[in-house]
Amino acid sequence: MTHVRSWRSLLFILLGIAGAPLVAAEPPEARTLELWARSCALCHIDGNAGPPRVGDSDAWQPRLAQGRETLLRHTVEGLNSMPPLGYCMACEREDFLSMIDFMTGGLEGAPMGATP
Ligand code: HEC
Repeated sequence: MTHVRSWRSLLFILLGIAGAPLVAAEPPEARTLELWARSCALCHIDGNAGPPRVGDSDAWQPRLAQGRETLLRHTVEGLNSMPPLGYCMACEREDFLSMIDFMTGGLEGAPMGATP
């Protein structure tokens, strides 16, 4: 019964996402969005009080010009009112890089909250 098998795999995937969000088997995009929504969205979604807004390429352009490594360093170490690690203690280097790519326009145009 192929039916039953596919339902099982679907259930397995759903449980994986719900139960173990930090496990590597999850697609990186979903993990990135989830961590981002939890930690960075707070400030970077509307850009109140200075943070460059997600997907706002004009705001990100001059920052991007510093290079991804500098953006990563500022994320980890903090920069003015940008808190060190952006409040994400569970985030790894790769997560920060994916989130930076996400915010700097890699996914520009994607509706908020949608999986790319
Ligand atoms: C408490 C609010 C706040 C949170 C939470 C936050 N940021 Fe920021 N972020 C800022 C502000 C404010 C700036 C602008 C800093 C400046 O240029 O003075 C900024 C700037 C940045 C920059 C640009 C740094 C540069 O060199 O120009 C990056 C990259 C960034 N944030 C990434 C992140 C990531 C990734 C997260 C989540 C893990 C995050 N931020 C969470 C407030 C926040």
